[in-house]
Amino acid sequence: MNKKIAVLAGDGIGPEVVEQALKVAKAVEKRFGCHFEYTPAPVGAVAIEQTGNPYPDETHEICMRSDAVLFGAIGDPKYDNDPVAKVRPEQGLLAMRKKLGLYANIRPITTFQSLSHKSPLKTELVDGVDFMVLRELTGGIYFGEPRGRSEDGSTAFDTCTYQRFEVERIVRLAFEYARQRRRKLTAVDKANILATSRLWRETVQRLHVEYSDVELEFMFVDNAAMQIVTFPKKFDVVVTENMFGDILTDEASVITGSLGLLPSASVGVHTSVFEPVHGSYPQAAGKDIANPLGAILSAALMFEYALEMPEAGKLIREACEQSIAQGIVTADIAAGKACGTSEVGDQIASCLK
Ligand code: IPM
Ligand code: MN
Repeated sequence: MNKKIAVLAGDGIGPEVVEQALKVAKAVEKRFGCHFEYTPAPVGAVAIEQTGNPYPDETHEICMRSDAVLFGAIGDPKYDNDPVAKVRPEQGLLAMRKKLGLYANIRPITTFQSLSHKSPLKTELVDGVDFMVLRELTGGIYFGEPRGRSEDGSTAFDTCTYQRFEVERIVRLAFEYARQRRRKLTAVDKANILATSRLWRETVQRLHVEYSDVELEFMFVDNAAMQIVTFPKKFDVVVTENMFGDILTDEASVITGSLGLLPSASVGVHTSVFEPVHGSYPQAAGKDIANPLGAILSAALMFEYALEMPEAGKLIREACEQSIAQGIVTADIAAGKACGTSEVGDQIASCLK
């Protein structure tokens, strides 16, 4: 088997965590006797410096030709503090999502038992939490037009738009995942206020007829924000629109004890992208302190969702668990002496061989 992996390390801690995920992928090659071809390509602030474009056409072509994209992070404080910057690294991420048609972002929230004491929530609430959020990723207020300022600059506006087919395809996926899990779907919206949410609710209700074996519940987003941290165990699959999903997944990430642990998969029309949820964390860049587990667990999702190697995904997850149990972890989750980013990567890779 000869698979092509595009490697978009990006900014901040992106390159160092992706390096660890690559060590793990190479260990998988040895273990399973397969061969991957890795093609690096620039994205984010790094790409702006090199080409003026945060998602250059050449990078897009490499992604299109690959079987999977391993993504690091994008973002640079230089742009955050400059409200009039014309190009921003984040535009690269949005362009990539749109051009690859990545309409579904999958963020699994699973806890490692040996880490439940790290969670800000009580241990008894956290142990056994296992749900996934399906966030719509190419529509809603992130992309709706018109957006901008009035002529005199005193008014700003964004538009939230959804078309029926955009809702339908992700809701269908959500029902399918629920079917493979504990058969419970929570559809999060704000249907008491928003027209787009009413279109979502109507679509979910219509599709439910085809998936009547799945238990369905609707929840307003404000209530969902509360319930995710009060009763996290009650969730199985959560489906929601772009911005609600962005906010709820950051909130949900703390349940596990560290944002540094969370992986994600973005799937849709073209090549799928696998990316840790943590972002570029520029303060930690180059210091060998960033938690590589988010990136390594993203690689595990890549083997499961894109490379048809579920066994490799499972082994990686077990290796991560083992490394956590042995205390070979970075400072954000260490109980005693912390290990470096690279040391954690080495440990997990060697565990796979
Ligand atoms: C995420 C990030 C991005 C988003 C930013 C960096 C554009 O927060 O992937 O959750 O808002 O989608
Ligand atoms: Mn986010």
